[in-house]
Amino acid sequence: MPSYKTLGCGVAGLLWLAAVPFVSAAELKPASSGAAGKAMAAEEETNISVLEDLMREHGVLDRLLLIYEELLRRLEADKPFPPETLRSATDIIRDFIQDYHERLEEKYVFVKFRYAQAFEEMITALQRQHEAGRLLVKDIVSCEDLRSPDEKKKLMASMRAFIRMYRPHKAREDTVVFPTFHALTYVSEYDMLGDIFEQEEVRHLGSGGFDKIVSRVEALEKKLGIYDLSSFTPLPAAESRGKGEGA
Ligand SMILES: [Fe+2]
Ligand SMILES: [Fe+2]
Repeated sequence: MPSYKTLGCGVAGLLWLAAVPFVSAAELKPASSGAAGKAMAAEEETNISVLEDLMREHGVLDRLLLIYEELLRRLEADKPFPPETLRSATDIIRDFIQDYHERLEEKYVFVKFRYAQAFEEMITALQRQHEAGRLLVKDIVSCEDLRSPDEKKKLMASMRAFIRMYRPHKAREDTVVFPTFHALTYVSEYDMLGDIFEQEEVRHLGSGGFDKIVSRVEALEKKLGIYDLSSFTPLPAAESRGKGEGA
């Protein structure tokens, strides 16, 4: 991870970055009444921190990339797949990853780095990738009915580009952006931001929204035969040879 010195920030820059506020007092008011308030109270029981929240959302993104890889494998091999699996995976990417997770990153995480003029190139690249991802999803939606060989080609190219971009995108956020963000945030501010994220989750996804998203992803994995975690474990060499001989 690059140091702040190499980025030209130095200790003074680091202290200044820590002091940059992200949220106003008005935004910190808990939803205390009505359906949203009750839903939030239930959510609060889980006490998920900001980074746990963002990283479990990355876990969903990983599983969606795995679904895309399986769909791409079948498209390349001219093997069939239930068409609703592609539509549904793309819907979750657009509604959950792009319109929810990425908006949170832009509104609360990237903004802090921009104020401090730290990791500027990386944050600019990540922002551009969010925008490029939205365009790729539009391309995928426009071709998902596979009306012609050209559409199939365009669909596969868009899916490949999507997977190729999001793997390093997510990895950079996990290993550089999120830990730095955490290290530079006051404990009280970090805790308050956790409350805001919970409110955002209830507002965007409804009560128990994250669990519902995971259930939808699991259903797609089951339809495509990639749900069983053990199926990804390599077989011992002898067993593998035996299977190969019998096939
Ligand atoms: Fe991102
Ligand atoms: Fe992310």
